[in-house]
Amino acid sequence: MGRLNDKVVLVTGGASGVGREDVLLMAREGATVVLTDCNVDAGEALAKEVGDHAMFLRHDVSSEADWQAVMAAVEARFGRLDAVVNNAGILESASLEEATLEHWQRIQRINADSCFLGCKYGVLALKERGGSIVNMASVSSWLPVDGYAAYSASKAAVGAVTRAAALHCRKRGYSVRVNSVHPDGIYTPMMQASAPGVDPKYMLFDPARNRGGRACMPNEIANVVLFLVSDESRFVSGAEIRVDNAILGMGL
Ligand SMILES: NC(=O)c1ccc[n+]([C@@H]2O[C@H](COP(=O)([O-])OP(=O)(O)OC[C@H]3O[C@@H](n4cnc5c(N)ncnc54)[C@H](O)[C@@H]3O)[C@@H](O)[C@H]2O)c1
Repeated sequence: MGRLNDKVVLVTGGASGVGREDVLLMAREGATVVLTDCNVDAGEALAKEVGDHAMFLRHDVSSEADWQAVMAAVEARFGRLDAVVNNAGILESASLEEATLEHWQRIQRINADSCFLGCKYGVLALKERGGSIVNMASVSSWLPVDGYAAYSASKAAVGAVTRAAALHCRKRGYSVRVNSVHPDGIYTPMMQASAPGVDPKYMLFDPARNRGGRACMPNEIANVVLFLVSDESRFVSGAEIRVDNAILGMGL
């Protein structure tokens, strides 16, 4: 008996990194996974690898029209949806003095607008039967990281939208839970691109400030997402779950 038997789960940015691990783990636990991404080749390849329990849809998470099309396709194919994992995101750095407005707005669009749209269309799809929405935030929702003002602001917005959506559902008596996950660095293509060739053991290792620190592996996040999607977390809503090995106390 899988922990997600009979559930239909939508994972955005499901073609790479954490999203890919979410898809593989949740399919193993009995879910049917709709994985969406703007990377069509990688998304289709993963759906093929998973087989009958996965379906790929092309999706730009910052586009409202795409959200409407994805939700309509899920309804037409399965007639139900039990969970939405708003995972897609981008990381780009720029010092505050050099950053352009275009850089700032691109990051808000892909990381924050997408979370608003994912919560709005997620609640609309889930409110009758109940379900779970999981939003990927970051420790940078709270921690200032030099060169990442736009990313931090976008992830702070993810935390704020999560709290608002959870309250919205509770006040209306919907059985929809909304939670955010706040990791430190995860060893995915996103992180590898920022430090090419560095072993995960040393990725976040700093003998002075982060002794024993290491990058988190994507399956360590997927396990938390699995818990939040499953009925095991049925009373958890509006929570900001740190998966950061206590980095918040250490500072970056
Ligand atoms: N890797 C880290 O260190 C880290 C730390 C904290 C939080 N996070 C968050 O975790 C989530 C997953 O990150 P990851 O490390 O797996 O990244 P990743 O780059 O490996 O994967 C992100 C996926 O999102 C997709 N994507 C990007 N823009 C999109 C768009 N507009 N529409 C649809 N899909 C889009 C990409 O094609 C890719 O498949 C992100 O929200 C990220 O901000 C990552």
